[in-house]
Amino acid sequence: MLSPSRFWPRGHRHLRTRLFTVLALESSADDTCAAVVTSTGQILSNIVVKQHHIHEDFGGIHPYKAVQAHQLNMPGAVQRALRDANIAAAQVDGIAFTRGPGMTGCLGVGCSAAKTLAAALNKPLVGVHHMQAHALTPTLTSAPNPPTFPFLTLLVSGGHTLLVLASSASQFRVLATTVDESIGRVFDKVSRMLALPWSAKGPGASLEEFVAASPAREDVAPLMPRAMPGVLGFSFAGLHSAVERFVTAQGGAASLDVSTKHGLASAFQRTAVGQLEEKVVLALRWCRDQGLGVRHLVVSGGVASNSYLRDRLGHSVINATRQDPVSLVFPPPELCTDNAVMIGWASMHRFLAGNTDEYSILIRPKWSLDDDIDIPQTES
Ligand code: KG4
Ligand code: ZN
Repeated sequence: MLSPSRFWPRGHRHLRTRLFTVLALESSADDTCAAVVTSTGQILSNIVVKQHHIHEDFGGIHPYKAVQAHQLNMPGAVQRALRDANIAAAQVDGIAFTRGPGMTGCLGVGCSAAKTLAAALNKPLVGVHHMQAHALTPTLTSAPNPPTFPFLTLLVSGGHTLLVLASSASQFRVLATTVDESIGRVFDKVSRMLALPWSAKGPGASLEEFVAASPAREDVAPLMPRAMPGVLGFSFAGLHSAVERFVTAQGGAASLDVSTKHGLASAFQRTAVGQLEEKVVLALRWCRDQGLGVRHLVVSGGVASNSYLRDRLGHSVINATRQDPVSLVFPPPELCTDNAVMIGWASMHRFLAGNTDEYSILIRPKWSLDDDIDIPQTES
């Protein structure tokens, strides 16, 4: 059981003794999720309904099919989350949902379901920022030694590649973002370009599994570009193009033998993770030079479930922070990818502070972490 004393904003620490139970919904992309979480950090249930089999033929998330699948799966996910938690809907204390950022139609399904549940049950409601939830996950999962604020966080998902300074549960400053594509999206596209079969975990995880399955030849990969050396910012379009050019020049994926594909996939993963490594070291140096007292680096989001990334960042952070140690913190892989546990947990400080949203709250498909993300919405 988590002692959340370090998590609650100073003024609300007295609330940590009150048990508050949240039913949370997440539907920002292609996973339909529902979970029940308590203010003491107990995960009473965690339902994730994946849609990879629906989107594989389209080579990426098909917006309409995704909305349809959420509409189909959300009622059952909520029912199972309550059943697994052994709790009736009327017994939960609050309803949370992902307000943004994400795909408009997909967010709409979770938002409408949450608002309707909250209104029917007369429960308070909180709309959560999806990336805030990824960033705060280790404050739940790393008990009894959660990361302490301020911490640096690397958020790597299908929609984002961010380096963020987290000063509290609700204050974030974006230090770096991508100037073009997100790392998760490029993992997905390269996996597709190499015609790798999607595993149950999706295209990014398939690429990782393919690389790990056998040692790769080092001599087949094209020159992989190093993006914006020395700059605190990400770029993956050059790497994406380098792989695409190579595959096209060889006559397409069907013309590549398995060992060539291995070499290419492995060089891609090495270069993409190498870029994360380089920018993390730059950001850690910046935090040190600013005298911010950063003691933890949190790495979260779907791509953070990648074992190669976890190993490699583990070594580079130790090496880069020998004089002034910074601990690397990952959520467990299953809570790196999208889930509703993180949404319930990220809503908790707002419920306990009585800082909740109106039932008229609207989704925010585009929403920066730099904005004041915990301001309640009061108008329709
Ligand atoms: O956080 P997430 O589940 O959803 C978004 O918020 O986007 O991240 C999904 C992204 C996808 O691009 C997926 O392919 C990638 O994370 N991903 C991975 C792995 N598992 C998921 N990428 C690389 N290696 C993995 N093992
Ligand atoms: Zn996510």
